[in-house]
Amino acid sequence: MKNILVTGGCGFIGTNFIRYLLSLPEFKGIVVNVDKLTYAGCAENLDDIQSKYPDRYFFVKADICDIDRLKELVERHAIDTICHFAAESHVDRSIVEPDAFIKTNIVGTYRLLELARRYRSQVQLFHHVSTDEVFGDLGSGGYFTETTPYNPSNPYSASKAASDHLVRSYSRTYDIPVTISNCSNNYGPYQFPEKLIPLMILNAKAGKPLPVYGSGKNVRDWLYVEDHCSALWEIMKRGKRGETYNIGGRCEKPNIEVVSTICDMIDSLSPLPDGRSRRELITFVKDRPGHDLRYAIDSSRLENELGWRPRQSFKTGLKKTIKWYLNNESWVRRIQTGEYRNWIKRQYDDR
Ligand code: NAD
Ligand code: TYD
Repeated sequence: MKNILVTGGCGFIGTNFIRYLLSLPEFKGIVVNVDKLTYAGCAENLDDIQSKYPDRYFFVKADICDIDRLKELVERHAIDTICHFAAESHVDRSIVEPDAFIKTNIVGTYRLLELARRYRSQVQLFHHVSTDEVFGDLGSGGYFTETTPYNPSNPYSASKAASDHLVRSYSRTYDIPVTISNCSNNYGPYQFPEKLIPLMILNAKAGKPLPVYGSGKNVRDWLYVEDHCSALWEIMKRGKRGETYNIGGRCEKPNIEVVSTICDMIDSLSPLPDGRSRRELITFVKDRPGHDLRYAIDSSRLENELGWRPRQSFKTGLKKTIKWYLNNESWVRRIQTGEYRNWIKRQYDDR
């Protein structure tokens, strides 16, 4: 794997993955980051990487559905590996407006697979980054394994399920070398503050209400983003072609516990002037329609076959995350005010 095409590298996990990859002494290749820069993409996330690795990191603003553009890039950069993150990723948005989910997550993945088929002799691996949400609601017992039947509950998870099926079908029918990973909920730096953890950190810091859906008893299995990145790299290097790996940190938490822990950690790092506990900001709001009760991943396969282990516990990962959001006020401000969109305007629209 020398010349890697990363899709969606200006989003949360893609940004962390590119940073991780280029920091590895063993990786000496180049990264071509293709991102459409939707509301969730922030090209500035990688400004320092661009300056540090001008000959190894290339950003291209493009839609993964634009096959001609992608062909040109695969040829120009002699791409031998595709790592596919680009997606519409927020469940709540998918419930309100599913259209972009179908276009990017399903049609976009199909176009990339066609690209891999067209350049079959050059592209040695297509890694598809997916989610545990394809398995649907787990109920109160058991774990998702690689053989759990798919049972998605909302347009986001249904579109990711469709994309996983397409990837498997291309492996089987056209013998495209693929690997697939289904990971649990991530948290860490650069996550867009529409998702639970960054939203709660920023609201708690500002003393705003903390909206917890329903009873707050829904359970998610949390993984620090850099641990996801290390798992992805292990799977890409040594995972069996045509196979799927579940990724999770064995870290199940009810939402209310996550939010309460965030409150306590921020209280100790930056107490409110009147000394009140931020737990008082917790507000139970109307539940998400079709809200899955529980996700929990069994990652034994990844652990046993590839020897992967997460490095962060929830406590250490959450502390790092909170500190990152507290220390990166300028990033937060640019995201919250929409200033980060001006970068795109300057680079593209004003020309
Ligand atoms: P994100 O929403 O933060 O980033 C998505 C990126 O994709 C953005 O930069 C966006 O501009 C880009 N994009 C969207 N549509 C595009 C298109 N048509 N063409 C090119 N680029 C496009 O998402 P994320 O949280 O970083 O998730 C990345 C991947 O990981 C997704 O495939 C998601 O399903 C998967 N995943 C996420 C989690 C999680 O907890 N966030 C967990 C497991 C799996
Ligand atoms: P989210 O971060 O949107 O991830 P996902 O839906 O992909 O798991 O939500 C995580 C959990 O937190 C989920 O059970 C919904 C809940 N949630 C809230 O209670 N309040 C919120 O404001 C958000 C965004 C999520």
